[in-house]
Amino acid sequence: MIKINETCIGKEEIEAVEEVLKSGIITEKSGMGPRVLEFERGYTKYVGAKHAVAVSSGTAALHAALLAADVGPEDEVIVPSFTFSATANAVLMTGAKPIFADIDKDTYCIKCESVEGLLTRKTKAILAVDIYGLPVELDPIIEIAHQHDAVVIEDAAQSHGAMYKGRITGSVADITCFSFYAAKNMTTGEGGMVTTNDDDYASAVRMIRTHGEERPYWVTRLGANYRMTEVEAAMGFVQLQKLPSFLEKRRRNAEMMTQQLSTSGKLILPREPEGTKHSWYLYTVRLRGANAGKRNKIVERLQSKGIAAPVYYETPVHLQPLYRESFGGKKRVLPETEKAARQVFSLPIHPKVAPEDVSYIAENVKKVTA
Ligand SMILES: Cc1ncc(COP(=O)(O)O)c(C=O)c1O
Repeated sequence: MIKINETCIGKEEIEAVEEVLKSGIITEKSGMGPRVLEFERGYTKYVGAKHAVAVSSGTAALHAALLAADVGPEDEVIVPSFTFSATANAVLMTGAKPIFADIDKDTYCIKCESVEGLLTRKTKAILAVDIYGLPVELDPIIEIAHQHDAVVIEDAAQSHGAMYKGRITGSVADITCFSFYAAKNMTTGEGGMVTTNDDDYASAVRMIRTHGEERPYWVTRLGANYRMTEVEAAMGFVQLQKLPSFLEKRRRNAEMMTQQLSTSGKLILPREPEGTKHSWYLYTVRLRGANAGKRNKIVERLQSKGIAAPVYYETPVHLQPLYRESFGGKKRVLPETEKAARQVFSLPIHPKVAPEDVSYIAENVKKVTA
């Protein structure tokens, strides 16, 4: 089976982890052990932001970022529904209410016009997601958010190394959150990072990741244990050095896939709008005019040929039981989101996919959609 994503771990990661294990410092109670500090410095430099704060997961990064922006009960946070549930769950965990916006039909990212219609006096933040690794069109979102005194948090769990108008993801929004889960473009197994140019947000996230302590055993705000271990940070630092080569391979595969699928009239292929650079976390195609049943049959046929072709995201968040029941979510309130959920599926382009695999995948996709 050609998997949708695979970890790329080499002897360098193994050696780095072994060194940490032998050093005796496997984690640090402030979250600022030597390996974490080294990884944070490297990440700051890579994305071009003033601060990077390592945490235990992408979900922890989102929750900590929202808490740092003082999001809480009575507040509203505008989020896309076409995303992984963690984006909206993090909002719920603060006690605030997620308000679901629709997506742009070409990029699948949150649509600024949809956001505009949802802004109220209660809007405290806009949480925009770089879905599939494509950076969301941030400038207009930042503009309307700041006009309304709202914070822009970018969920960049899928977009390490992507670019928006010449800047690497992580230096553009007020706060950016990354995930290093095993399937991501770079990994620490589980892990996350918050980046920002704002000193106050950075120091708040540092406190939040260690129980809200201003100094040891002195709690001045709500926090949790969201620390990254030294083992994870050592692995992350090595992965960060390898990230450019991982991204290059993903790009090569994505370009090959597009070239080979471009003759199919049945598919809408992913694009990179002007001014953006995709991280190619997922290569997601859309079956023109299809319903979910037809799309699912194609996915099954590809699977029987040994090609993983999963659907992200078959059930948008506003239609998940938790949200449907708690927020009275009903069908057809987000037409572009619900349509995309019926028509998309993703194809493997990760660094371990060889050029001949791309040809095999493209050939079979053309056959089963013909
Ligand atoms: C868009 C998005 N947001 C948030 C997360 C949560 O990250 P994690 O799994 O590291 O908690 C993920 C990934 O899993 C994601 O894809």
